Amino acid sequence: MIKIEKKKILADYTTFKIGGPADYFVVVKTLSDLLEAWQWAKDRKKSILFLGGGSNSLISDKGFSGLVIKNEINGLEEPQEHKNYILLTAKSGEWWSSLVNYAVERGCYGAENLFLIPGTVGAAPIQNIGAYGVELKDIFYELQAFNLHTGKMEKFNNAACQFAYRQSIFKRKLKGKYFIYSVTLKLSRVPDFHLDYGDIKQVLGEKNIVRPTARQLVDAIMQIRNSKLPNPAQIPNAGSFFQNPEVSWAKLKRLQAKFPEIKSFPSKNGAKLAAGWLIEQCGFKGKPEGAVSAYEKQALILVNLGGAQAKDVLKLAKKITLAVQKKFGVKLIPEVNYIK
Ligand code: EPU
Repeated sequence: MIKIEKKKILADYTTFKIGGPADYFVVVKTLSDLLEAWQWAKDRKKSILFLGGGSNSLISDKGFSGLVIKNEINGLEEPQEHKNYILLTAKSGEWWSSLVNYAVERGCYGAENLFLIPGTVGAAPIQNIGAYGVELKDIFYELQAFNLHTGKMEKFNNAACQFAYRQSIFKRKLKGKYFIYSVTLKLSRVPDFHLDYGDIKQVLGEKNIVRPTARQLVDAIMQIRNSKLPNPAQIPNAGSFFQNPEVSWAKLKRLQAKFPEIKSFPSKNGAKLAAGWLIEQCGFKGKPEGAVSAYEKQALILVNLGGAQAKDVLKLAKKITLAVQKKFGVKLIPEVNYIK
């Protein structure tokens, strides 16, 4: 039995601590709760917004004029052992890091670098979360999603999700059309670590660890994240506010001639530029604009210094975008999902 509440302040449900009221709000803990909430909205022709951990969203100050469904459908299944791999399934409302931790405990390898990314399991495929050289798509097997139009459950394998850098079909063609119900990872039975990222090498090196255990790697990731990224529980934020922009090789060469220090790394169609570096070079790092600032240790993350509204964040984001465009001729694209 679900309980629909009215005029619920959404700031309390986002890591940015920003967002006006939802006209209607409900927490779902089971599949039957979800079906009930979906039917309720359908009968009343209300639009639906799904919220997981609220860690990648900027919700407008006027809130949401429909039904917000907060996903708390939890559950970690027993690992399914196959000859060369292990399948691990979790329900979408489960906290992503609980799944990574569970994988480590159960001897399933490959998810370590994605430890501590805030948010739920269900949100992970939508934006193809990634960190320290690994993306969800590298360990993703399939997901089950509820089609909001037909009311049927469907399966999407890795190819069907059309993953790309911070992208999937659920952010493009199928945006708002499905509710992700469960996610299955394909993990390795033997250690399969990605240790190439500079920060990982450094932290393991400092500890004289050459061949880490999964737990040691997860601990190193925790150390790196804690040293650079603001903990949303202390300094509200939604992670990287912008994506790292991709440019052609020719454009990179031109930029390198003018800015020899520019930080870039090879990508599919040329190179990705470190947006944090671009923003820092424009003078925004650690410089508050009212109640918002580009974080002092990582300029790509916009932080709420206390009492910020969505309009304050949007104003700074616009200022940053214009400054980066002017100095580098590069367009920054938001990574955070803005909900109007
Ligand atoms: N840099 C600066 N100044 C800054 C920030 C970064 O010069 O203020 C430079 C760093 O020195 C480094 C480069 O930019 O040379 C890259 O920085 P970092 O390793 O911190 O990673 P990032 O590219 O800024 C991406 C992800 C993060 C993820 C890290 C680690 C995106 C949009 N962000 O950030 O993901 O944790 O790599 O893999 O791709 C997120 O999505 O919310 C997120 C935090």
